Amino acid sequence: MVKIKAGVLGATGAVGQRFIEGLKNHPWFDLTSVAASERSAGKKYKDAAKWRLESELPADIAEMTVVNVDPKEVDADIVFSALPSDEAKTAEPAFAQAGMAVASNTSSYRMVADVPLLIPECNADHIGMIKVQQEKRGWEGYLTTNPNCTTVMFCLPLKPLMKFGIETVHLASMQAVSGAGYEGVPSMAILGNVIPYIGGEEEKVEMEAQKILGKFDGEKFVDAPFTVSASCHRVPVMDGHTEAVWVTMRENPTPAEVKKAMRDFDAGLKGLPTEPEVPLAVMEEIDRPQPRLDRNKGRGMTVSVGRIRPGVTGVKFICMGHNTVRGAAGASILNAELLHKKGLL
Ligand SMILES: NC(=O)c1ccc[n+]([C@@H]2O[C@H](COP(=O)([O-])OP(=O)(O)OC[C@H]3O[C@@H](n4cnc5c(N)ncnc54)[C@H](OP(=O)(O)O)[C@@H]3O)[C@@H](O)[C@H]2O)c1
Repeated sequence: MVKIKAGVLGATGAVGQRFIEGLKNHPWFDLTSVAASERSAGKKYKDAAKWRLESELPADIAEMTVVNVDPKEVDADIVFSALPSDEAKTAEPAFAQAGMAVASNTSSYRMVADVPLLIPECNADHIGMIKVQQEKRGWEGYLTTNPNCTTVMFCLPLKPLMKFGIETVHLASMQAVSGAGYEGVPSMAILGNVIPYIGGEEEKVEMEAQKILGKFDGEKFVDAPFTVSASCHRVPVMDGHTEAVWVTMRENPTPAEVKKAMRDFDAGLKGLPTEPEVPLAVMEEIDRPQPRLDRNKGRGMTVSVGRIRPGVTGVKFICMGHNTVRGAAGASILNAELLHKKGLL
């Protein structure tokens, strides 16, 4: 089988390195380009990436030369973007215009009306918008996005609860430092501490879920009719976002019914290489999920849910997942696999 050529934009960063990890032995994609800022361009990848994940870097990737984030320098059919959002705003459309598919991880286009915001287990049919986007913009390529790393962790458990008529969602996040990128949070600020503010995060979290869990009517997205209220906090955890969630639903299901709906959840996908065996792992242990113990479930793609119990109104639970895998690179790669399966690559 001829593999699809894949490039990574922002390849040297926290998410970029997870892309390299997810693509290095991929059965469908062949990593052909790594791109980063002009500080890194021209260097070998092994010299440009400032820090390393624990996993070993294959020799052929270590020796690749980093190129600039420029469609003329990137040899690919699809690019995975892990750029800072300002840079992504101009770079991503340029790649789509040049005929490439763009699977973006950044916030720049998530809420734009003709851009799908995808979680394959929740809204695979939203890829129908790609045709609309290409016609409207005159692009040969196209742009798709995956959600914010906090959004995906609570959208997955909410999906099987949609049948109960979700009315309100409240959540408090405990977000890992890797979520802010390598330069993100100074160690002097976070060690032994909690920072009760993450710029722009609550706004993203409060808007994205309705688009994802809403409908695509063939021309536009129609938001799901519930409200989200979020309080986001940075905690001294390396990887893994934990969230306390309170949900009220029109049909007022019991915690046992909620648990059963999550356990029975069948996303209807099959045969995508990055798809975990179960998207949701419902845990019975009273003190789980925990990031250190549970973030690598399903190779980092499973969201763990525990402590499903009655709230003052509705039901409350804890969910947790790997923010740079399920919340970032793994999410984009899963989206790309869906696009390929549906004949869009
Ligand atoms: N970390 C997460 O959990 C997470 C989750 C979801 C989404 N995201 C989003 O993913 C994106 C990347 O996040 P990150 O955490 O990986 O950030 P990061 O560690 O700071 O990495 C940023 C990457 O972008 C490159 N870059 C920076 N400025 C550039 C410029 N002017 N032109 C071209 N390339 C440039 C950097 O290259 P150099 O090494 O050459 O500087 C590096 O490869 C952000 O938009 C973030 O919001 C992150």
